[in-house]
Amino acid sequence: MNITADDLAQMKTGLLVIPVYEDATFSRSPVAGNLVSRAMTYPEFKGGAGEELMLYSPEDAAAERVLFLGIGKKEKADPEVFRAAAGKAMSRAIKAKQTDIVFCGHGKKESVLAMMEGAVLGNHLSDFYKKERKNKPVTQIAFHVDKSKQTAYMEAVGGIQAVCKGTIMARDWVSAPPNDKRPDMFARSIVKAADRENLTIVDIDERNIRKNRMYALLAVGSGSDTKPRMLVIDYRPDKYDKTVALIGKGVTFDSGGINLKPGSGLADMKQDMAGAAAVAATLITASRMEIGHRIIGVLPLVENMPSGNAYRPGDIIRTASGKTVEIGNTDAEGRMILADAISYAIKQYTPDTLIDVATLTGACKMALGPKIAGVFSWNDKLSGQLVASGRKTFERCWAMPMPDDYRDMIKSDIADIRNVGKSRWGGAIAAALFLSEFVKEVNWAHIDIAGPAFSDKANAYCPVGGTGFGVRLLIDWLQNLQ
Ligand code: BES
Ligand code: ZN
Ligand code: ZN
Repeated sequence: MNITADDLAQMKTGLLVIPVYEDATFSRSPVAGNLVSRAMTYPEFKGGAGEELMLYSPEDAAAERVLFLGIGKKEKADPEVFRAAAGKAMSRAIKAKQTDIVFCGHGKKESVLAMMEGAVLGNHLSDFYKKERKNKPVTQIAFHVDKSKQTAYMEAVGGIQAVCKGTIMARDWVSAPPNDKRPDMFARSIVKAADRENLTIVDIDERNIRKNRMYALLAVGSGSDTKPRMLVIDYRPDKYDKTVALIGKGVTFDSGGINLKPGSGLADMKQDMAGAAAVAATLITASRMEIGHRIIGVLPLVENMPSGNAYRPGDIIRTASGKTVEIGNTDAEGRMILADAISYAIKQYTPDTLIDVATLTGACKMALGPKIAGVFSWNDKLSGQLVASGRKTFERCWAMPMPDDYRDMIKSDIADIRNVGKSRWGGAIAAALFLSEFVKEVNWAHIDIAGPAFSDKANAYCPVGGTGFGVRLLIDWLQNLQ
């Protein structure tokens, strides 16, 4: 991304983008001002939210096209409006087969930074699997800014690019088909992506999973021909104060196992590794941004399949913590693998804070819909911080309760605990309470991303498929952690 303060009128580009408020001036640049006045002479364009106008070869600018994007009323225009506007501009540029784009970035800093984010995120195409890739991403994105602010923006660009690249990396992993990301392949892909970063990776194979008594992870993986593994990614800056453990659910395909899921939602269950994708991408991003905390990513990777060797409803499995679990349903596999991963992270690294990210329950998606994640924590400060980061990044989170008396739901007559509640009600809470049995003393939050991890509709800056949800959220949280 380029930050320029050269003469806007002389700027040669295929597409110049100018945001326009309905009731105020966005840009104080006289060149942009003149162009906006021209745009406003057309009755179909008033700067209202979502409105667009394209002018071709305007006399007063060297750009081939100028795209005016209506932002609506200034007071209502939060960063997300700008993120979305920039994403939309990228789609227009891609559709018009342009290789470069210039944004007019003279507004409030917060709005311009959001546009930068929307532009990089919106430049992502997900057409790897097509024989013919018709569209090409834009190769040169520039922002035209006031000379006095040029240095400040130049300093911000690196971070924005890193976090957006991380998000796109997570999206691509989640969108990848399950035959191309079975646990061994997904592990290799992560190791490759982390290759040149300041990260240490330990790949724990089946033998070592057994050695560490992670029988819950083994049980979930026992139905698949591809054996489970666990990646531990360690980011350790020279100087740090806090150690954070991030655990990501990495079920590369969740068929439900012996409690096989019905056909309709099966294909979408390639998304069940979105937590692991978000955590891996967060570690890579954190190392690129040189974040000042030690971060340990723990990724249990496994495929949940039915077979003659699969774990069964009724089985009792001993977890790494020593606690035994009665299996009520083999489709409640995420909490099993997280239980072992959480125990491992606490035992090996005694983190100050532990956050797990998981596409854990359909119930959470039912409660909060497809765009908002549920946050479960006893620590109101921690959940408050995550909700605040969610508001800022628009990776929205909502704090959910973990009432102690609901613990009855996961009581077992025969083992220490059952992996599902006796009824369907409060399924997201039952799952969180299950996980809580394995954390106890640690400062912990669980983020259920079953809703927002994957989208079957494109939005302004994200194509259909994996959304990369969690990367921008966690990076923002880490940056603000003291
Ligand atoms: N991976 C699913 C949850 C899920 C649902 C993720 C929708 C993304 C979108 C999870 O493993 C699961 O199957 N959960 C069951 C739990 C039940 C058996 C107690 C569910 O939500 O139905
Ligand atoms: Zn499941
Ligand atoms: Zn699952």
